[in-house]
Amino acid sequence: MAEVNLLASLPRSTRQIKARADARTEEHIRVSREFGEAYFDGPREYGYGGYHYDGRWIGVAAAIVGHFSLVPGDRVLDVGCGKGFLVRDLMTVCPGLLAFGLDISRYALLNGEPAVSGRLGLGSADALPFPDGAFAAAIALNTIHNLDRAGCRRALEELGRVANGRAFVQVDAYHTPAQKAVFEDWVLTARFHDYPSGWLALFAEAGYTGDYAWTIIE
Ligand SMILES: C[S@@+](CC[C@H](N)C(=O)[O-])C[C@H]1O[C@@H](n2cnc3c(N)ncnc32)[C@H](O)[C@@H]1O
Repeated sequence: MAEVNLLASLPRSTRQIKARADARTEEHIRVSREFGEAYFDGPREYGYGGYHYDGRWIGVAAAIVGHFSLVPGDRVLDVGCGKGFLVRDLMTVCPGLLAFGLDISRYALLNGEPAVSGRLGLGSADALPFPDGAFAAAIALNTIHNLDRAGCRRALEELGRVANGRAFVQVDAYHTPAQKAVFEDWVLTARFHDYPSGWLALFAEAGYTGDYAWTIIE
């Protein structure tokens, strides 16, 4: 188990944190947690503010393929795949790789990447509908923290189960009280977040032996 930054190639997000904190209401949180049209393609106060393919996942896909030494014929699962952009790019950077996605959002799947239609399924990270060891690797980027702590624990168990421990999670965290305050001003959907020590304790409880990285909002 190791901390590894597989998202280093992504452009830095610009976030109007103060503006969101001032404008955010319980209604924004309720609606964004539906992971529907408002979250993906509605105004920024509800989530992405428009979620479109722009090629940014190519570098991440290459990092994942390299990290897990994936080769054509291997099966890889992206849990919380959204519209399937990363699934598409995994197959682009490694032709012959069998990439699949799973997401809780029917809206994302119905409005997803046409190139991976049929490779994306509806489901939840804490109950993956796949046999033990079905994948050479399983990843979940900025997804499992949308479950509560018990759900995160189940999701970590599931990721390990379907990929024989060859997993990677990227989750919301903070190193300092100041970073925690910024995160709490920005957060919409996450139900569990913690300092790295809290996450590492949860990994141990779940028997999670995969790799991980922190998303820190600054
Ligand atoms: C912040 S987005 C991340 C999407 C993509 N992985 C990325 O990094 O851009 C969170 C994703 O998790 C999905 N999601 C939320 N709860 C989930 C759950 N319990 N199981 C599976 N997917 C979930 C949402 O629909 C959304 O696509």
